[in-house]
Amino acid sequence: MAMTSKRDLVRAAAKARQRAVAPYSKFKVGAALLTKSGKTVTGVNVESASYGLTCCAERVALFNGLTAGKKNFIAIAVVARAPGGPMPCGACRQLLAEYAPHAVVWVADSRALRRIQEFSVRELLPAAFLEVPADSD
Ligand code: THU
Repeated sequence: MAMTSKRDLVRAAAKARQRAVAPYSKFKVGAALLTKSGKTVTGVNVESASYGLTCCAERVALFNGLTAGKKNFIAIAVVARAPGGPMPCGACRQLLAEYAPHAVVWVADSRALRRIQEFSVRELLPAAFLEVPADSD
């Protein structure tokens, strides 16, 4: 199986982005997750007329992968038309910290796919809430 490179994954996110469902903000985002076994799963942002129900591309990609039984995510690429690339929101950082803690995060502007910024999930969300304490009253 051919190895998926950083650029391949960014390209997959850019391709997925074309399917973004963003009629309200018009801000199209694509994400592509890579598993340890070399599989790619994608997601796009999906918006609602009830704006708060909108789901970001990163979370859609994660839910897509998780519900297909995928795990061991080693990287995620996120692409949008944004200077330097789109930075994942706090909600997505939380879900990444829980389900893709070791993934490297690559972000790129759709107009400059070869200029890729790299982050770790840990640096995007230090001191994350990862477990519900057993005791409650
Ligand atoms: N959005 C994402 O999909 N990912 C990000 O990293 C930032 C924001 C979406 C949510 C909404 O559809 C639109 O971008 C504007 O916030």
